[in-house]
Amino acid sequence: EKGTYPHYMLKEIDEQPLAIRKIIQEYQGQDGKLNIDPSIVEAVKDADRLYIIAAGTSYHAGLLGKQFIEKLAKIPVEVHVASEFGYNMPLLSEKPLFIFITQSGETADSRAVLVHVKELGYPTLTITNVPGSTLSREADYTLLLHAGPEIAVASTKAYTAQMAVLSILADVTAKSKGYEPEFDLIHELGIIANAMEVVFEEKEDIEKIATEYLATTRNAFFIGRGIDFYVGLEGSLKLKEISYIQAEGFAGGELKHGTIALIEDGTPIIALATQESVNLSIRGNVKEVVARGANPCIISMKGLEMEGDRFIVPAVHEMLTPLISVVPLQLIAYYAALHRGCDVDKPRNLAKSVTVE
Ligand code: F6R
Repeated sequence: EKGTYPHYMLKEIDEQPLAIRKIIQEYQGQDGKLNIDPSIVEAVKDADRLYIIAAGTSYHAGLLGKQFIEKLAKIPVEVHVASEFGYNMPLLSEKPLFIFITQSGETADSRAVLVHVKELGYPTLTITNVPGSTLSREADYTLLLHAGPEIAVASTKAYTAQMAVLSILADVTAKSKGYEPEFDLIHELGIIANAMEVVFEEKEDIEKIATEYLATTRNAFFIGRGIDFYVGLEGSLKLKEISYIQAEGFAGGELKHGTIALIEDGTPIIALATQESVNLSIRGNVKEVVARGANPCIISMKGLEMEGDRFIVPAVHEMLTPLISVVPLQLIAYYAALHRGCDVDKPRNLAKSVTVE
């Protein structure tokens, strides 16, 4: 099933453009417009607040889903880690809708919340890659990711698929509320799929980044501002789970409030710069850590790049940059793990779906 690929993870990273195109196709109606089951759109519009519940990578996708939904559909969204939500439940709004993001549809922590909020009588929507999975069967509504089976323990194509589907949900809900679309999402997602293929042509260079920065390091930090921060969280999770490097993601401005004490000579800092509004401030944060000896690797977007940036991703719509900036981070994690002799597809202590609370 891996075909000519040495690992499922690499295959699944490569399948991302295909998955994005498949999602566009699956969510496109006969009139060529994006389309979501009207009962789901009504349920979203009917809610005064959406509660996204998820774990791990799916939680990171949820953080970006919040941005899409609040920006386009203008409905407030909270994002919660499933394992925390049950016993530390926030004060709920009057008409909440619960959205569960789960690749496998089997994560016990997320299911526990689903069971609980159903008992409370709230409507539920599961966004999953697996039709017929437990969380899909038990929720009122389901949206499928259409990413194809994900075998590698480290989630890659499900993450970008989750963001794509969340952007579609945001877009369709916005239109149904009568808001003028700010951009053509089908067109922009098509640009993302092409941009992913452009990044794949640079795999050799990305492998070099992994060996240059991460061959022997004990730790690594990812920084970004705004949505780049959330992508950094995902990049650090990918790196730590398969390479066992202690990796952490921080908001650019937060690093100096403590964690900067860990910066030593040569500590790798992977910084994301895809947002024009914070381009200068994130670079200011990089300077702060470079002054303490850090080894900076800036990944920026075409049009915002500056001298010395280590990798540049093609330009895409500013709201959708996570779908492209995560790709080099996935590949950096892959090559770092490979060069450190780790079992890329089956990292120690981890299972593909976590079915115990
Ligand atoms: C990370 C990873 C995990 C899962 C998490 C949730 O690469 O795979 O963090 O994202 O266990 O799993 P799902 O999405 O199946 O609920």
